Amino acid sequence: MIHEESGKTEDFLMEQGSAEEEIVVNLRPKSLAEYIGQEKIAETLKIAIEAALKRQESLDHILFNGPPGLGKTTLAHIMAIEMGTRIITSSGPALEKGGDLMGILTHLEKGDILFIDEIHRLPKIVEEFLYPAMEDFAVDFVFDKGVHARTHRYRLEPFTLIGATTRAGLLSSPLRERFGITRDLDFYQEKELVLIVKRSAALLDVPIDDEGTFEIARRARGTPRVANRLLKRIRDFAQVRADGKITRAIAIDALALEGIDEHGLGETDRKLLKTIILNYKGGPVGIEAIASTLQIETDVLLDVIEPYLLKSGFVIRTSQGRKATDIAYTHLNITEHKGPNLFDSAKTKRRS
Ligand code: ADE
Repeated sequence: MIHEESGKTEDFLMEQGSAEEEIVVNLRPKSLAEYIGQEKIAETLKIAIEAALKRQESLDHILFNGPPGLGKTTLAHIMAIEMGTRIITSSGPALEKGGDLMGILTHLEKGDILFIDEIHRLPKIVEEFLYPAMEDFAVDFVFDKGVHARTHRYRLEPFTLIGATTRAGLLSSPLRERFGITRDLDFYQEKELVLIVKRSAALLDVPIDDEGTFEIARRARGTPRVANRLLKRIRDFAQVRADGKITRAIAIDALALEGIDEHGLGETDRKLLKTIILNYKGGPVGIEAIASTLQIETDVLLDVIEPYLLKSGFVIRTSQGRKATDIAYTHLNITEHKGPNLFDSAKTKRRS
């Protein structure tokens, strides 16, 4: 699937809804100035944009790595808007054959951004077309086979590839090395999420007080996409069950209904922790065993669910597998099969 947009003309703030002509508000920031958090990355991108515009060149190829919902796609769209170029979007799994990518590459115009989401899932055969495209702005067509094989080099317009991945480690080194800028996006701090929730509430025109804002930011798993999703659910709740205003009390009741607990963990997160603790005595247990017990794809566990549990210290990764920590036991109020104490192990490490 290919999607083409123009950074120049697209109004990213408001999109016309189809059937009911309702106005859907797009919460994504459309400039780096509006973008909250990831400050160092934003600064790097600002410099890259200014330099490229000054030299009237296309941007270097960029790779964004990090868990879902942290803003990789948003940043790619912002780059197109700020450069005043088109953005053509596709994804690793959508590009099945060399020809799929070739069709896109040969239609690129000067300066276009090609955004490939989940670039780690690009088939090897397709990936190989990218090497000369990225390095020399050319693709090599091969005619005939064996001793009769001839190649024809087809020139491309200079373009920028922006790749997004949740697993940079799965990229082959030739591909990884061809990106001029590679950045890891990290989970957002609570104070950044507070600003994001405030901004989104203003765009959605929903009244919210500071405590309500803080409650959402605190439970958003360090992730803007989660913060915005919670905000929308709580807005519904506030409209139906109260006077429309989001307060701390309304947020607490709405989040209870959503199954989101004090730490922002959902049903699946708690199931994962309980599986490690109750089925595998607190670990260590391999990720495949957890995935098969929970009947969830290993990739979803690795890319979507586990990163926040690791980051917030509910789970640790050891060479033998995953272990639940004291934080997980305390949070779930379970005392049996006690896991390792992070503080004790830190002390032990310091002593040794
Ligand atoms: N909405 C979603 N992510 C955002 C961000 N990083 N800054 C501002 N608004 C956002």
